[in-house]
Amino acid sequence: MPNFADKTVLITGASRGQGAAEARLFAQAGARVIVADVLAEEGDALVHDIRQTGNIAEFRKLDVTSEPDWAEAVAFTKARFGALHVLVNNAGVSLRGVDLEHTMRADWERILAVNLTGVFLGIRAAVPLMRESGGGAIVNIGSTAGINGHFAAAYSTSKWGLRGLTKAAAMEYAAAKIRVNAVHPSIVPTPMVAASANFVEAMEYVTPLARSASLEDVAHAVMFLASDEAAYLTGIDLPVDGGFTELGAYRQVWLRATGRAP
Ligand SMILES: NC(=O)c1ccc[n+]([C@@H]2O[C@H](COP(=O)([O-])OP(=O)(O)OC[C@H]3O[C@@H](n4cnc5c(N)ncnc54)[C@H](O)[C@@H]3O)[C@@H](O)[C@H]2O)c1
Repeated sequence: MPNFADKTVLITGASRGQGAAEARLFAQAGARVIVADVLAEEGDALVHDIRQTGNIAEFRKLDVTSEPDWAEAVAFTKARFGALHVLVNNAGVSLRGVDLEHTMRADWERILAVNLTGVFLGIRAAVPLMRESGGGAIVNIGSTAGINGHFAAAYSTSKWGLRGLTKAAAMEYAAAKIRVNAVHPSIVPTPMVAASANFVEAMEYVTPLARSASLEDVAHAVMFLASDEAAYLTGIDLPVDGGFTELGAYRQVWLRATGRAP
């Protein structure tokens, strides 16, 4: 496992789901972790757990769509740990099961505000401290919905946009030794998809590795891109998807053409 001793890592949306798994893994690797989320109770409980194992974590209440919240979170990070080396923009909200024609403008704006504007605000707020800290890494959590065509316009658009933002930031901050990459999970068992058994089952069916990603599958990919071991990687899209993006369409052709599926 990469070593994050003396590194400060801020993870948004970290009170539960994938962000929480990433917080635990970075803390195990020696990082000082800031769990940032709108969910205070779950975030406090996670920080308590991490501290019980002898590792370092703090909770900050952060709504990623709020500029004052970002300013406060970064100021807290500087005051508490003196530096910021890694930012994981993981917070996200989903909207599936409604077609474009019936998507309410308020829902469209909410999804884009959290999943895309939140990432923009986070990068903008964190970069000055990361620069002052000698550089670092930003990992943005997208989705395969931002790589393949998808069927949920607001969510899909937010994740396609995140890829553009990732590349623009990677270009602009390379000189400051800040690498910016994106991780794109396909399907992960978290509260986000807990009520969507049919969707999960269908995704697993078309995935060559025939299962969802585990929380750890994603967390290890995020940690790798954030680590010094990935020192020469910037501006990339890394799908963590069991082959879904590259092979999912042909898997369906293959299943049908060989009589393995009706
Ligand atoms: N679960 C999946 O199958 C899947 C697949 C692809 C991508 N993703 C992406 O992975 C990321 C993590 O999602 P998850 O699966 O862990 O879902 P989750 O719903 O369990 O966790 C999302 C977290 O983001 C937080 N959050 C929501 N709005 C926020 C805001 N305005 N400010 C701060 N925090 C906020 C929530 O409180 C929650 O803790 C998201 O960006 C999501 O789009 C998830």
